Amino acid sequence: MASAKDIKLPADALAHQVSRSLGLSTSPSAVLHSPPSSLGASIPHAAAASAAAKQLKPFATEDVKILLLENVNQTGRDILAGQGYQVEFLKTSLPEDELIQKIRDVHVIGIRSKTKLTARVLKEARNLIVIGCFCIGTNQVDLKYAADHGIAVFNSPFSNSRSVAELVIAEIVALARQLGDRSNEMHNGTWNKVSNKCWEIRGKTLGIIGYGHIGSQLSVLAEAMGMNVIYYDVVNLMAMGTTRQVATLDELLGEADFVTCHVPELPETENMIGQKQFEIMKTGSYLINASRGSVVDIPALVQAMRSGKIAGAALDVYPNEPAGNGDYFTNDLNSWATDLRGLKNIILTPHIGGSTEEAQSAIGVEVSQALVKYVNEGTTQGAVNLPEVGLRSLTMDQPNCARVIYIHQNIPGVLRRVNEILGDHNVDKQMTDSRDDVAYLMADISDVDTAMLKDLYERLESLSSRIMTRILY
Ligand SMILES: NC(=O)c1ccc[n+]([C@@H]2O[C@H](COP(=O)([O-])OP(=O)(O)OC[C@H]3O[C@@H](n4cnc5c(N)ncnc54)[C@H](O)[C@@H]3O)[C@@H](O)[C@H]2O)c1
Repeated sequence: MASAKDIKLPADALAHQVSRSLGLSTSPSAVLHSPPSSLGASIPHAAAASAAAKQLKPFATEDVKILLLENVNQTGRDILAGQGYQVEFLKTSLPEDELIQKIRDVHVIGIRSKTKLTARVLKEARNLIVIGCFCIGTNQVDLKYAADHGIAVFNSPFSNSRSVAELVIAEIVALARQLGDRSNEMHNGTWNKVSNKCWEIRGKTLGIIGYGHIGSQLSVLAEAMGMNVIYYDVVNLMAMGTTRQVATLDELLGEADFVTCHVPELPETENMIGQKQFEIMKTGSYLINASRGSVVDIPALVQAMRSGKIAGAALDVYPNEPAGNGDYFTNDLNSWATDLRGLKNIILTPHIGGSTEEAQSAIGVEVSQALVKYVNEGTTQGAVNLPEVGLRSLTMDQPNCARVIYIHQNIPGVLRRVNEILGDHNVDKQMTDSRDDVAYLMADISDVDTAMLKDLYERLESLSSRIMTRILY
C-alpha cells in the first residue's frame, strides 16, 4: 500500500503516485487552477484526465488512511473526508490490543483524552505520520517517543476559551446571589427568601490572574456587565476596553471583589492562591478557579471560607480528577473533598469549563485543519512535539516543484550533508528548526522530475541521522 511515507518508491510506483497527487497545492481552491502541464514527461494519462476534470486534490488523497476514535466532532470528520482521505470513524476508544491492530495501517490517528498512545502502541504504528488530539491536553500521548520517530502531534488548546469565560461570568453572578444554595434549598423543599449579602455585580471589581486567551475574553464580558476589571500577568499585555493591568498579585488581591484564576499549570503557579493570599483578599470577596487544580491550595480555601473571609467560591478543576463519570468526588480522591462539599456558597463543577457543543465543534475544525496542513504541506505550526516550521504553499504555476521534508536527529554536521544532497537542485526556499533531539527541515526545490525525486529520496534516507523523509509534489 502506498503511504504518505512511501515516496521512497521505485520509479514506476513513484510515477503512479504522481499521477494521483499532482501538486501540493494546498488550498481547496487548487481545483480552480489548471493542472500543471508536467512533472517531466512522467505523468501518466490518468493524471491528465483527472486534471482535466479539475479534481486535483492536495497530496495523495486516495492513499491517506485516517482512524478517528472517541466520537471526534462531525466538523473534523467532514474536513478530513472532504480531502478525499479514507476516514474510519469509531465512537469509542479501543482496548490496547485492538488499537495496535488498527494503528498499523493508518497514516493519521485522531483521538480525544481516553486513548492512550503509549510507546508500546506507537511502536506498531509503522505508517503513522501525525496524531491529532481533538482536545486540549496531550498527556495521553508519549510525545517524546512520537517526536523521536518523526510523528507530529497537534491539539487544540484555545478553542474553548469563550466557553470558559462564559462559565465564569455565570459563576460571578451565581456567587454574588448565592444561587447554588437557594437552588439546593428549594430542591430540599425549603423556601428561604433572603437579600442579606446578596449583591449586584455592577460596579464591583473583577481581578483576573492570567490575561491570556480566557482572561482577556472574560474581561470583555465582565466590562459589558458593568464591572471594573483589573488583571495581573507575568507578561505586559495590552488591556481590552478600560481594563487595567496591575503590577503585583498582591495589588490585585487587595483590590478585587472577585478573584479568578486563568494561569497555566507551572511550578510558579502551584498553590499561588493559599493562606497568605486569602489574608490579603478583601473580607467577603469571592474566588473562582477554572484553570488548573494545582493553582489553589484547597485546605486553605476551606479555612478562609469557614472563617467568613471568603464569601463564596467556584471550582471547576481539582488536583486529582477522576478518569470517568461516577461517584468519585470523595476523600479517596482528594483528602479534603468532604470538607469542601460541606461549605456554603461554593459551586463545584466537574471540569466543564470548556465543555460546550461550540467548543467541540471548534476543536474539530482546528485539529483537522492542522492535520490537513501537515499531511498536504508538511507544516508543523501548532505541533506540540516538533519544531514549528512552515513555508508558504506551493502553487499550481510551479509544476515541477517538490517539497522535501527531512526530519532528523539534531546532531552536528547533518545540515551540511543534507545540503550537499539538496545542493544538486535548485532550492527555492528552505527552513529548518530544532527542538530537543529532533530537527525538522523543509525545502522547496524546482525543476525536478520523478527520477530526481527518487534519487533525492534515497540519498536522504541513507543518512544515518534520518528519522523520516517525506516528499510532497
Ligand atoms: N476549566 C476548563 O475546562 C479549562 C478549559 C480551557 C483551559 N483551561 C485552563 O485555563 C488556564 C488558562 O488558559 P488560557 O487558554 O487562557 O491560557 P493562556 O496561555 O492563553 O493564558 C495564560 C496567561 O497566564 C499568564 N501567566 C503565566 N504564568 C503566570 C503567573 N505566574 N502569574 C500570572 N500570570 C501568569 C501568561 O502570561 C498568559 O497570559 C490554563 O490553565 C488552562 O489549562 C481550563
